[in-house]
Formats: sequence, C-alpha cells, structure tokens
Amino acid sequence: MGGGPVSAYYRSVLRPAYPIYTARLTLRPWTADDFDDLYAVQSHPDVPRYLYWSVRDAAEVREDLKIKSTLSAISEVGDTLSLAVVYREAERVVGSVSLHWLSREDGGGEVGYVFHPDFGGRGLATEAASAVLRLAFTAPIDGGLGLHRVIGRIDARNTASARVLERLGMRREAHFVENEYVKGEWTDEVVYAILRREWAARRAQPRI
Ligand SMILES: CC(C)(COP(=O)(O)OP(=O)(O)OC[C@H]1O[C@@H](n2cnc3c(N)ncnc32)[C@H](O)[C@@H]1OP(=O)(O)O)[C@@H](O)C(=O)NCCC(=O)NCCS
Repeated sequence: MGGGPVSAYYRSVLRPAYPIYTARLTLRPWTADDFDDLYAVQSHPDVPRYLYWSVRDAAEVREDLKIKSTLSAISEVGDTLSLAVVYREAERVVGSVSLHWLSREDGGGEVGYVFHPDFGGRGLATEAASAVLRLAFTAPIDGGLGLHRVIGRIDARNTASARVLERLGMRREAHFVENEYVKGEWTDEVVYAILRREWAARRAQPRI
C-alpha cells in the first residue's frame, strides 16, 4: 500500500519525555532495579496463560529485563517501546505496556500490556494502555508517533484483555480460527483496532 496523505508524519521517531504520568500511574523506562517486580509478574502462573511465552525463571526474567531496558524509544519500523508501569499508591512496578511500530506506509502500530493479577480489576491496564495510544496517535510535532491505526491482538479466550481493548474504544475486527499453534494447541486469534480519527473523536467527547 502506498503512503497516504499524512505519510510525511511517519518519518518521525518516538522519544517520549519521561516519566509519563497518568492519574494513578507513572510510566518510565525499565531499569535493573525492577527485577523483583518484573519477576513477580513473569513467574506468576496465571500471567502467561494466553501469551506466547511460559512462566519465566529468574534467569529468563533477567534476560528479558535486559532487553526491555533498551526499549525506551522507537526509531525504526519494527521497533518496540516497552515501559514499566509504576502504581504510585503501591510504590512498585505492577505491569508493563508496549507499543510496536508495524508499518511506516500504513501508519500501523500494536499495543500490548501485562499486569500482575494482584493489581487487576482496578482499571490500571486500561489507564496505562490509554497513555500508549496517546503516544501512538499524537502528531510528531507534539511528541507522538502520529500513527493512523493501532491494533491489539489477543487469544480469543482472553476475555479480560478483550474488555481492556473495548474500554479503549477499539473495534473487534477479526476472529481467526485456529490460526496459531501455541504451547501445544491450536488457538484462535482476535484482532481489535482503532483509527486515529476515532481515538481523537473519543477524546473530544465530554465526560459525564
Ligand atoms: C489483560 C489484563 C491486563 C486485564 O487486567 P484487568 O485487571 O482486567 O484490566 P484493568 O486493569 O484495565 O482493569 C479493568 C477491570 O477493573 C474494573 N475497574 C475497577 N475500577 C476501574 C477504573 N477506575 N477504571 C476502569 N476499570 C475499573 C473494570 O470494571 C474491569 O473489570 P471487568 O473487566 O471485570 O469489567 C490482565 O488480565 C493481564 O495482565 N493478563 C495477563 C497478560 C495478558 O494476557 N495480557 C494481554 C495480552 S494480549
């Protein structure tokens, strides 16, 4: 597909000014000090149930943290931004959010999030992912990546994650039947998406 009328935007890079504050959260790059909190998330048996990876041991978490610590900016298509999510009330990292730059020509990106179950049910994942959508869609001149469309891909059984994407205003666009073989079984994949103009229209709505 050719570049659209706003393709000039996609020459940009994303280097957010940290920390990023939301009502209850602080989003910032990962550091080596986050090992204990990341280990608590990635070693929890419930967390990777619908993810590509399995419960991680200390060495695997250390390796992942090393990689995550390098992912604080997006410069090229294919890059991923990964941020630690600090729940200020608990004074600890309770999860991670990510933005993957999928396509320059199509202005496409993908949002991701993984949270500790002890901090579920409070809207924290939705709040953090909402900040990621802001980074994705805000024009480069205002510090964002200026994307056209952001997707979320989930295992069809991951209903909690589907609700997060729906709360973000994303549309359920596709249900692929047994299109992936993950951890020894065929799985269905569901794809959600939101366009920048839809995201902007939601932000313009008065809150009641
Ligand atoms: C997916 C995941 C982040 C969802 O967690 P979650 O706690 O349901 O999501 P949130 O933090 O946004 O919380 C939303 C829930 O809190 C409730 N809530 C309470 N206070 C809230 C508030 N102030 N604002 C919004 N929601 C609030 C919501 O009603 C919602 O509950 P419901 O879905 O039962 O209606 C979590 O299950 C997870 O990390 N799983 C493992 C990793 C994973 O699968 N990631 C997704 C990969 S695609």
